[in-house]
Amino acid sequence: GRPLIALGIETSCDDTCAAIVTSDRQILSEVLRTQHHLHEPMGGIVPKLAHHAHMRNLPSVVQEAIQSAGLGEQGIQAVDIIAVTRGPGLAHSLGVGLNAAKTLAAALNKPLIGVHHMEAHALTARLTTRDPDQPNDRDVSVSESGVPIGSDPYPSFPFLTLLVSGGHTLLLVAHSVDRYTTLATTVDDSIGEAFDKTARELDIPWLPGRAGGPGASLEEFAKGSIDPGRYLERLPIPLSLRSSKNEMKFSFAGLKSAVTRIVKQEKATSPSGEMEESKRQDLAAGFQHCAVTHLCQKVEQALVDCHEKGLDISSLVISGGVGRNATLRSRMDEICGQFEYGGAIATDKMSSKEKKKLKRASTNATPNETLKAARPVRVICPPPKLCTDNAVMIAWTGIERYQQGLVDPYDIDIVPKWPL
Ligand code: KG4
Ligand code: ZN
Repeated sequence: GRPLIALGIETSCDDTCAAIVTSDRQILSEVLRTQHHLHEPMGGIVPKLAHHAHMRNLPSVVQEAIQSAGLGEQGIQAVDIIAVTRGPGLAHSLGVGLNAAKTLAAALNKPLIGVHHMEAHALTARLTTRDPDQPNDRDVSVSESGVPIGSDPYPSFPFLTLLVSGGHTLLLVAHSVDRYTTLATTVDDSIGEAFDKTARELDIPWLPGRAGGPGASLEEFAKGSIDPGRYLERLPIPLSLRSSKNEMKFSFAGLKSAVTRIVKQEKATSPSGEMEESKRQDLAAGFQHCAVTHLCQKVEQALVDCHEKGLDISSLVISGGVGRNATLRSRMDEICGQFEYGGAIATDKMSSKEKKKLKRASTNATPNETLKAARPVRVICPPPKLCTDNAVMIAWTGIERYQQGLVDPYDIDIVPKWPL
């Protein structure tokens, strides 16, 4: 039959988003209206403002998504399923999207799929995969040309997902659609908050509206560092002494305070009372190094733990705004490259004949091959645009859930606090 067409709606936070996506991985349209300009002067997201802006914007955002999708004469009738974020998120914001989706679905008599926002972040990589030969930060013009499919169709289950954004710092195993195990989460700040607060502390110039926010500005600023090791001795790598299994968690408060302390000391000893730009760049680089190392250590531990449990992890999917960070991506590439999945691993005990057979299997593997070669665990980063909040991931998750028979009744409610 023809591919499924899904409308996705996302209003969990401060962006009003709608998108139309097909089961053969075409993004027919995607519309995102940000409320950034409303919240920025208030120093944070104001739930009431977000609620009203969603109410104002959602109808035209949905209208634009439908009109620009090229659905032909059928218009909205061509849509097979309606997917919407149920949670987690701001209650009133979620309500606007959910009510719109429920009403549309009921009026049109279409299946409704309520989506967990974090499941959507995790599954995005099954919609898009980056060709491993392409540069990490390649952006993809998704709406015009569809999504380029990499050499691997998409991460097969089980895979690890690292969700790193302003709202979340989460490491989990995706076992299958609808089944996840949380391995680690933050005990204090999210990593995005840590980047944002540090950027503020270091007076890093931030052009509002620029993609990536303060975190991206910090990354850019740190590139100017001449002596990135200058402050490393005074910056802790959080929870790096692993005393027990319970230490699978993230923490950024201590690192952030260390940055604050250093800034204070530098200002106190500087004749101008200010911290020189070159030193601020070094501190930014040091902070980034420690924050990224912290994430890397936990991911490495998770890969070891999964391996011990016999979970054959195929890949690490990194998403969320901080997933844009190039240092993070390349360090994760290094770590994952040391692990393998999917078959026999060449060992010293093997005869050269066995090794040859294994090598042959790895270059042209067939399903019947008894000796399957292991492949290195891959890092998959969806294009930056799809790493931040968007409705494409909601529509796609709707498709994945629908294909598993997971449909919801029209009277479902929002779930503002919703563990995976
Ligand atoms: O996923 P996202 O756009 O929004 C939510 O938090 O839901 O994530 C935004 C966060 C911000 O804290 C921003 O500073 C951070 O992602 N960020 C980055 C980079 N780009 C965005 N942090 C570090 N390096 C970057 N390149
Ligand atoms: Zn998100």
